[in-house]
Amino acid sequence: MDAMDAILTRRSTRNYRQDPVEKAKLQQILEAGRQAPSGGNSQKNHFLVIENREVLRKLITMTEAAFARMEADADTYPSLRHSIEASKRGGYVFCYNAPVLIVVANCREYGNNMADCACAIENMMIAANALDLGSCWINQLRWLNEEPALVQYLQTLGMKEEERVYGAVIIGYPAEGLPNRGRMAQKGNEVTFIS
Ligand SMILES: Cc1cc2nc3c(=O)[nH]c(=O)nc-3n(C[C@H](O)[C@H](O)[C@H](O)COP(=O)(O)O)c2cc1C
Repeated sequence: MDAMDAILTRRSTRNYRQDPVEKAKLQQILEAGRQAPSGGNSQKNHFLVIENREVLRKLITMTEAAFARMEADADTYPSLRHSIEASKRGGYVFCYNAPVLIVVANCREYGNNMADCACAIENMMIAANALDLGSCWINQLRWLNEEPALVQYLQTLGMKEEERVYGAVIIGYPAEGLPNRGRMAQKGNEVTFIS
């Protein structure tokens, strides 16, 4: 698959097989993330690669508990409202039980933290597609990135005191086999040429 195909056919996958991702493929995906551009070449992204099922389970429990304590109304961002409402009902799994969750942390005081994180995550999702793996951006840990219990737990996993989460991505083999590579209908993303 060439670069344009990998970019144009990448779609989010939300249903995974439990098979682990081979270390060699995971390393390639991480290298794609680490080679992403960063403001001032600061290279401040910190990739926490979580494959441990107990740790994933603990994060699922903690995010559900945190969302269940929050309130949503008509003005709440729809995806956040969904997380809150689903958590209050119980059984909410923010990462679709994918076998790998890569949490991207960055320095809290650095102005390009989310931009640098986004570049890395997009690179990793494109690399995953090129390797026949599914992926999806996962934003719940970003929304909860000042939640004391989660900050503390992520610090036990290696996140530094000055860091916070600015995004995450799940990786794994799609339940359907190959990733869904359909083209997406464009409803926005306007282009204006000034020739
Ligand atoms: C900043 C950002 C946050 C997102 N957060 C989530 C999320 O938390 N959960 C999820 O299932 N998808 C999430 N997505 C995926 C989008 O829903 C998805 O990219 C969009 O619907 C377009 O579909 P496609 O990725 O298949 O092209 C996120 C995407 C971005 C760029």
